[in-house]
Amino acid sequence: MAENIKLKVGVLISGNGSNLQSIIDACEDPNFPAELSIVISNKAEAYGLGRAKKANIKTKVIEHQNFQHRSDFEKNITKALINANVELVCLAGFMRILTDTFVYSWKDRLINVHPSLLPIFKGLNTHQRAIECGVKFSGCTIHFVSSSMDEGPIILQAAVPVHQNDTSKSLAERVLDAEHKLYPMAIRLFANKKIWIENDLVKFTNIEDHNEILINPNIKN
Ligand code: GAR
Repeated sequence: MAENIKLKVGVLISGNGSNLQSIIDACEDPNFPAELSIVISNKAEAYGLGRAKKANIKTKVIEHQNFQHRSDFEKNITKALINANVELVCLAGFMRILTDTFVYSWKDRLINVHPSLLPIFKGLNTHQRAIECGVKFSGCTIHFVSSSMDEGPIILQAAVPVHQNDTSKSLAERVLDAEHKLYPMAIRLFANKKIWIENDLVKFTNIEDHNEILINPNIKN
């Protein structure tokens, strides 16, 4: 695939950036249909910034506390994304709620990873809540972002088992492993124009193999 037809992706992070790393790794495959144009963090100390720099990806720190108004913070993010010619924005552990204005301006081009099988366990502490509820499967979701938190058309989900001796840490690690597989899969589908939205639901087109859209739980892990 010629370099110049790759989808340009911008990633927003706040911390560790292990999902960012999975996207960086995926982009190293010359056949992956997307490339990273910029990584933006709202925290100067985010570990993920170093991951991006190591991969020679442009980075920018836009700290929310430097802005009196959320709209100015977001305008700066949009400016940086546009300057980097970003076509798809990926939230990867970006821990700021975005306003309707931002969400609308990136409508159908803004996706997020959430560590639960939405629509269950929106918000924080998903793994602890999953354990306390006694669910036998948890997982993660990649979804388009809408103006309500952790809502919006679901693109892909991966399920993982919840074992009876799990702690929120052990479950988080298992779910994170699944996130790392799922995010590049979703970007690939988007870049290959295999996703469309109808009545707020994601539909797939031209899927040749179910492995393109499904990850089966590995019960042994
Ligand atoms: C991931 O588990 C992601 O699903 C979660 O934060 C973690 C970031 O990890 N995101 C949310 O909870 C957003 N609602 P990472 O920085 O190592 O990618």
